Amino acid sequence: MYASRSRRIFMSNVRPESMVRITTPALAQAFIEEQVAAVRAQVGDKKVLLALSGGVDSSVVAALLIKAIGKQLVCVHVNHGLMRKGESEQVVDIFGKELDANLVYIDATDRFLDLLAGVAEPERKRKIIGAEFINVFAEEASKLEGISFLAQGTIYPDILESIKAAEGKKAVKSHHNVGGLPEDLQFELVEPIKLLFKDEVRVVGEALGLPHKMVYRQPFPGPGLGVRCLGAITRDRLHALREADAILREEFDNAGLAETVWQYFIAVPDIKSVGVKDDSRYEGWPAIIRAVNTKDAMTATIEEIPYAVLHKITARITNEVEGINRVLYDLTPKPTGTIEWE
Ligand code: XMP
Repeated sequence: MYASRSRRIFMSNVRPESMVRITTPALAQAFIEEQVAAVRAQVGDKKVLLALSGGVDSSVVAALLIKAIGKQLVCVHVNHGLMRKGESEQVVDIFGKELDANLVYIDATDRFLDLLAGVAEPERKRKIIGAEFINVFAEEASKLEGISFLAQGTIYPDILESIKAAEGKKAVKSHHNVGGLPEDLQFELVEPIKLLFKDEVRVVGEALGLPHKMVYRQPFPGPGLGVRCLGAITRDRLHALREADAILREEFDNAGLAETVWQYFIAVPDIKSVGVKDDSRYEGWPAIIRAVNTKDAMTATIEEIPYAVLHKITARITNEVEGINRVLYDLTPKPTGTIEWE
């Protein structure tokens, strides 16, 4: 169904109107078979490099390419120290161990946090994170031999967005995605999912055997927790944020909210208030809960979270997370708030 036109279609950046939407495992299998053949034909016996962030798109591309070319694919996972709790470990477990990928894992936490020390301005933080990601990735790439291709988890909305950007539409934030690599890396691109929409990528991911949780992972900004640890990032506040966020995610899972709420997370501002703990004054940061629904992230509404769930999250965060003494629930839709706080 896809195969007859695959080479021609997938070299192009335009999704033909006739292209079938991938909504079932059978359609996903047909797509996978076709792409496996197309990738093999494109790369031959050469090596392909992939920046594997652990997000849905790069994970699906990794799984697809492992199926197509096995160890000819080299995945590089850069842990910038701004991942959520357990995320880099999951990448290593699934790709390094289960799928036996050729995986290079780089813990660059110190490099990123040292560069970010004292930097409070959100756009500057984004730029530092994006630029340093490229530095680390390019350094690793230069150590590898015989790489001819670069695989990317580009999807169709990325292509549509770039067209809009080229037409000069103004963005509120730079939305730097740390996966965006410079053109001067001079590799030929392999972009097997570039004509798919997100829901199709997920169906393909499940058909490739990736865990449901990874495939249905909520959106997570490229600069990661860096834009949720508001103002200048410190290691202790970042740690508190990561722990509080893990509790929020666990309790949303327990309450069955994980798949009904589009995006939910904690932000921790750089302010302290007076509180009380064990009969003593306890100064701490507030953890702000954000839980929104949206179709396209351009506008967003607030999700009504049951009070019982909010109480439980509040009790757990204030008891279990060092440095947090209050929990707040952000009721602001977009506009006037953006989804993230920075
Ligand atoms: P805002 O905060 O602009 O967010 O309402 C809309 C969506 O975009 C995500 N977001 C980012 N994604 N790099 C990304 O890859 C970024 O710098 C960035 N900033 C915001 C945000 O999480 C939400 O899903």
